[in-house]
Amino acid sequence: MGKFVIEESGRLRGKVRISGSKNSVLPIIAATLLTDEECVIHDVPALTDVLVMQNLIEDFGGTTKWDMAREKLTVSVKSITKTDASYELCAKMRASFLAAGPVLARLGEVKMSLPGGCAIGSRPVDLHIKGLAALGATITQEHGYVHAKARRLHGANIYLDFPSVGATENIMMAAVLAKGQTIIQNCAVEPEIVDLSNFLTAMGAQIRGSGTDTIRINGVERLSGATHTIIPDRIEAGTFMLAATITGGDVELANVVTDHLKPTMAKLREAGVIITETDDGIRVEASNTRRAIDIKTLPYPGFPTDMQAQFLSMLATTPGTNIVTETVFENRFMHVPELVRMGADIKIDSRSAIIEGVPKLTGTQVKATDLRAGAALILAALAAQGVTEIHDIYHVDRGYFRFDEKLRSLGAKILRIDG
Ligand code: EPZ
Repeated sequence: MGKFVIEESGRLRGKVRISGSKNSVLPIIAATLLTDEECVIHDVPALTDVLVMQNLIEDFGGTTKWDMAREKLTVSVKSITKTDASYELCAKMRASFLAAGPVLARLGEVKMSLPGGCAIGSRPVDLHIKGLAALGATITQEHGYVHAKARRLHGANIYLDFPSVGATENIMMAAVLAKGQTIIQNCAVEPEIVDLSNFLTAMGAQIRGSGTDTIRINGVERLSGATHTIIPDRIEAGTFMLAATITGGDVELANVVTDHLKPTMAKLREAGVIITETDDGIRVEASNTRRAIDIKTLPYPGFPTDMQAQFLSMLATTPGTNIVTETVFENRFMHVPELVRMGADIKIDSRSAIIEGVPKLTGTQVKATDLRAGAALILAALAAQGVTEIHDIYHVDRGYFRFDEKLRSLGAKILRIDG
């Protein structure tokens, strides 16, 4: 299962390049199912989640060529040869469900297993299904599968009860080939929505309003291939900003979009961290004084839930009382018991964590329970006394490209032990 062995590392220093965004490349690869022409995607990070999505495209009959060294993925789905997605692939990654909209739009039918929950919550897809039904699909759900059929999808007015990222993406990818206009209200406004919209537009889709809470789409008859470069990963960037902060370091990040980092930058500055913009990114300098802060996760442009665990690792050694409220997922504090084993003083009260800062954490054996919890434990281990072993690191490889290599280049004492 593999583990990381991490020693107290001292101040991280140096420069690191941020990779393409996991949460952008996954829907964009799914969108290549919408055309029979070749698509070329640049800045594709070699993540295990991307490998699963690549395998899913091939499972549906597409061909792919992945030049990992140059982070370039070429996809061509001349025809979709089946309507039902492989259970094994869908079970590996929830984002596989993003293939539902494109396959339904292109083929008129799709059958996918309902994504299971995961450590952070039940994560239903009712809003995805509601949207596809509004576009004219007849949907049946039985034995853990969703079966959707539609001779031709038609435009609709859809109001999302919650600005779900995945539901917005699935509905967008179905609506671009539907007959007529679709309006999606109360939709997600994350940067990854805008990146997907830019890719679809490059394919010939007619979309307006991405990045706002109302997206208007005029369906077209067909879409062509396109070339696209994935936006930088704002959560990987935030994770490295926290690595610099927790170790008292001074780190430069290249290949970032500072506009996407506003909530993370604001909260770190509030905690006393010095952040300056450079020619090709930002510089993060930890100061000697760290101030207690409160955080509440919200859909973008609020504070990102995907940065919550990493901040908890920092707040664990921030003097004073810090309160973190998780409003997006119902069970996203699985890293807390592991941090407590390292000596953190954290209590959970319903959807809030109350953190009393302690002077230092102590290394021990811990395990990653999900992607961001794993990253948070790595950050905590960098500054903890002694040695920490982190097990089940496959969670981390799902969303961080060469994470240990990049940390070592900044002076981190981290070793990967496969096995
Ligand atoms: C995306 O997940 C991201 N994943 C998540 O990142 C991220 O945490 C999340 O958006 C929120 O920003 C990808 O983009 C691949 P949602 P998604 O639909 O689309 C509820 C990471 O660490 N909901 O916006 O699944 C849901 O239960 C991962 O990189 C419904 O109730 O998120 C949750 O409470 C973790 N019904 C909330 O909405 C639905 O039909 C937000 O979910 C859909 C969602």
